[in-house]
Amino acid sequence: MKRVAVLISGRGSNLSALIAAQDDSYRIVLVISNVEDVAGLDKAQAAGIATHVIPHNGKSREAFDGEMDVALLTAQPDIVVLAGFMRILSDGFVRGWEGKLINIHPSLLPAYKGTRVHERVIAAGEALSGASVHFVVPELDAGPVIARATVPVRPDDTPQMLADRVLEVELKLYPEALKLLAADKVALKNGLTIFKE
Ligand code: GAR
Repeated sequence: MKRVAVLISGRGSNLSALIAAQDDSYRIVLVISNVEDVAGLDKAQAAGIATHVIPHNGKSREAFDGEMDVALLTAQPDIVVLAGFMRILSDGFVRGWEGKLINIHPSLLPAYKGTRVHERVIAAGEALSGASVHFVVPELDAGPVIARATVPVRPDDTPQMLADRVLEVELKLYPEALKLLAADKVALKNGLTIFKE
């Protein structure tokens, strides 16, 4: 069984889905938030999971990431999952967890990296959007994709309506992707996602 740490910044919808989907392949042992008093921390505590708040304010990226590394060292996770974690990570941190660090992003990567995704998708007149789970590499949202799910973009969509529709598929996609990694069915090799079965 793989030990998993989850990094959050907010309400923790993806975290809840990952908690609910725990099976023989993985167990969440630690939740770290860079923001105090967020709903995601309550959800972790309600599930009996250890939590840790590491505020990022007034710290260099490297100092903040160093504090996370210390907290992670104690929990000894096999996999670190970013679930609505809204901080850019330093190259050193990302390299240290290479192949064990995954993220979910609310677009069909490699399209629409970064922020304000749904607004940009609608403005561009896209017919499809979705969510992607990917290995994290130093370049933002550029890591090799493990799994994607699509949703339609409707003509009368607001960014919030589209965000809600994408989130619905995220909650199914992320646990499935994590289980693939936890079961060693997928790995990062030479900058590529390799499926073993
Ligand atoms: C999710 O839609 C996730 O894909 C997105 O933030 C939301 C977090 O929701 N993540 C990013 O945009 C990362 N760049 P949650 O905190 O309720 O799981």
